[in-house]
Formats: sequence, C-alpha cells, structure tokens
Amino acid sequence: MNPAESPLVRAARGLPVPHAPVWFMRQAGRSLPEYRAVREGIPMLDSCRRPDLVAEITMQPVRRHGVDAAIFFSDIVVPVAAVGLEIDIVPGVGPVVAEPVRTHADLDRLPELTPDAIPDISESVRLLVAELGETPLIGFAGAPFTLASYLVEGGPSRNHVKTKALMHGDPDLWNALCARLAQISTAFLAVQVEAGASVVQLFDSWAGALSRADYERYVQPHSAQVLAAMGEFGVPRIHFGVGTGELLASMGAAGADVVGVDYRVALPDAIERLGDRYAVQGNIDPALLFAPWAALERETRRILDEGRSAKGHIVNLGHGVLPETDPDVLTRLVGLVHEVSAR
Ligand code: CP3
Repeated sequence: MNPAESPLVRAARGLPVPHAPVWFMRQAGRSLPEYRAVREGIPMLDSCRRPDLVAEITMQPVRRHGVDAAIFFSDIVVPVAAVGLEIDIVPGVGPVVAEPVRTHADLDRLPELTPDAIPDISESVRLLVAELGETPLIGFAGAPFTLASYLVEGGPSRNHVKTKALMHGDPDLWNALCARLAQISTAFLAVQVEAGASVVQLFDSWAGALSRADYERYVQPHSAQVLAAMGEFGVPRIHFGVGTGELLASMGAAGADVVGVDYRVALPDAIERLGDRYAVQGNIDPALLFAPWAALERETRRILDEGRSAKGHIVNLGHGVLPETDPDVLTRLVGLVHEVSAR
C-alpha cells in the first residue's frame, strides 16, 4: 500500500475508506514530553531547519498515537524567514516581526522564495517519507491573509486593525503583498510535495476575522492562486481557518478538496453550507479533551455520525491541540475513532 491509497487521502477525495482517518492539528508539540525534551534550548525557528530534528518531532505523534497522517513539523513563518525577513517566534506569544511590512518599499525585504533557499525542507520531507511508509505526510503553508496579518501588525493581533486599514486603504499595496506571499507559500508547498508530501493544508487561521465580502474581494483570489498551483500537482488540498462559519463556501470555492470546520459550527450545518463537492475535516472541540472520557466519547460518536453525510470526513479537532492536553487521551481518541468508524 502506498500513501496515495491511505484512508486519509481517500477520504479527502471522497472515496470509500476502511475507517475514518484521524489526525490532530498541532499533534507534534508541547503536549508531548518527548517533544519538550528534544526542543530543550533550541529556538523554534532553528529547530524547523534541522532535518534530523524535524523528522524526529514529526514522527513522535505518529509513533505514540497511531494517527492516520503526519503533519510536517515547521511553521507558517519559516518560508518568510527563509527569504530574509527578520522574524522570530517568541514562546507564549507567536511570530514577531522586527520591522513590520507596511509600504511598497518594505516589499523589497520580502523577495520571492526559490527552492535553493530551503534545501533542508526537501531533505526533511525525504527523510520522513522514507520513515513513514504507507502513512501520508501532510505538507502545509500559511495562507496570504494570515501571513500578511503577522507581517503588517508586527505580531499576533486580536483585531487586525493595521491589516484591515491597509487592505481597504491601499488595495494596490495589499494585493502586491498578498501576491508575493502567495508566491512564497506556493514555493514552500511545492518543495514539500515534490519531496513526497501526499496532501497539503493551507492554514488561513485568522480569516474568520473578515466579512464574507472582504474575504471574497481581498483574500480569496490570493489563496486561490496557491490552491490552483497545488491542484497542478494532483495532491488533495485542505483549507482551514478558525471562526469561518460564514466563509465555509467561499473557502471551498477558493479551490479546496477538503474544508476544515472549527468547533463553533455544527458539522451538519457546515456540510449543508458547503454542498456535496467537498470533504470536511473536524471538528472536536480541543477543550473537550479535558472533559470526562464519557463526554468526549459521546461527542466523538456524534461527530463521526454527522460526518457520514459528507462527501468524505477526516476527523480532527476544531483547532490545535492545547499544550496542557494529556497525550494519553489523544491516543485513546484515535482508538475510539478507528473502532467506531470501522466498516
Ligand atoms: O500541527 C502541527 O503539529 C505541525 C506544526 C505546526 C506548527 N505551527 C508548529 C509550532 C503548524 C502546522 C503551525 C502553523 C501555524 N503557526 C499556524 C497555523 C495553525 C494554527 O494554529 O492556526 C499559526 C497561526 C502559526 C503561528 C504560530 N507559531 C503561533 C501562533 C505559535 C504559538 C506561540 C506560542 O508559543 O504559544 C507558533 C509557535 C509554534 N508553531 C509552536 C509549534 C509547535 C510552539 C513553539 C514551541 O513549542 O516552543
């Protein structure tokens, strides 16, 4: 069996599966003691550029939980750092940009990404694909809007005030910035797919901050560029954001095969909004992993049941694993999903 025939890839394509595939956003990370041990003293962005470490961290949740996919250990800001923009990931805060990008001249600090700037990324993926065997590797990148938000604000932001001011105040500059970010994310994904990733996920985590009209006018065309380029490679495309209940159909129409649904939207509502052209991914509330097992089991059975009416269903959380999560609960949850959905 090869990863292109795995339950995850088949579900993404809407084909019959032996059981529902399950993986977790942020499955590699602080919930795992073995992750904390190998990361000790190594800054986040440095750890993303060391193939031995990237392969080890990516494999940790696969070995421990038996999930149906690995997600490449990296970060959405790795490719913008690789083109030379001064950016750091501050623990407990997130990405912080030394000099925010706010003018046409600032775009000079954000040149196009070429594969020769990230040979370590291909090497990490090649190591992983060899070790993973039939388990698929999910490659990923940040979508232009979510990346632009970090670059324009200078760091994480609640209201995205400067980003929205730029979007509406200088659409030419906004479009130039997003076109450049689309090029960078496309190149980052292309390297991962060419080295053997079987699926891609485009993270537009903060798109839920936008109205549907603004999303469609200022954001969707740029994400569509990235997704169309991935379509040329023939890999299934997952498109995810948080708080995107009002945007689900537009995020599908951007060129996704699978639309990520966060826990705020009931899966049947999401499926109705999306129609039968897309598979769905989601949407267990990450906070429920702290509830008694019986409650988590009940919710998971309901979500599995609801997912049966979609074209395909990849089980996941509605957003990333919280750092304080008990990893044994994740392992048990994988077992439950496999058992309940076996057909
Ligand atoms: O999902 C996975 O297991 C794969 C690895 C992954 C990371 N970041 C590792 C990481 C992925 C897919 C990302 C994407 C990412 N990075 C997103 C989109 C996903 C989402 O959560 O919506 C975003 C918005 C970022 C930006 C970012 N990087 C944030 C907000 C943070 C958290 C800062 C903090 O310390 O709370 C990071 C850092 C980061 N990226 C960590 C990990 C494991 C934590 C760093 C650490 O362990 O010290």
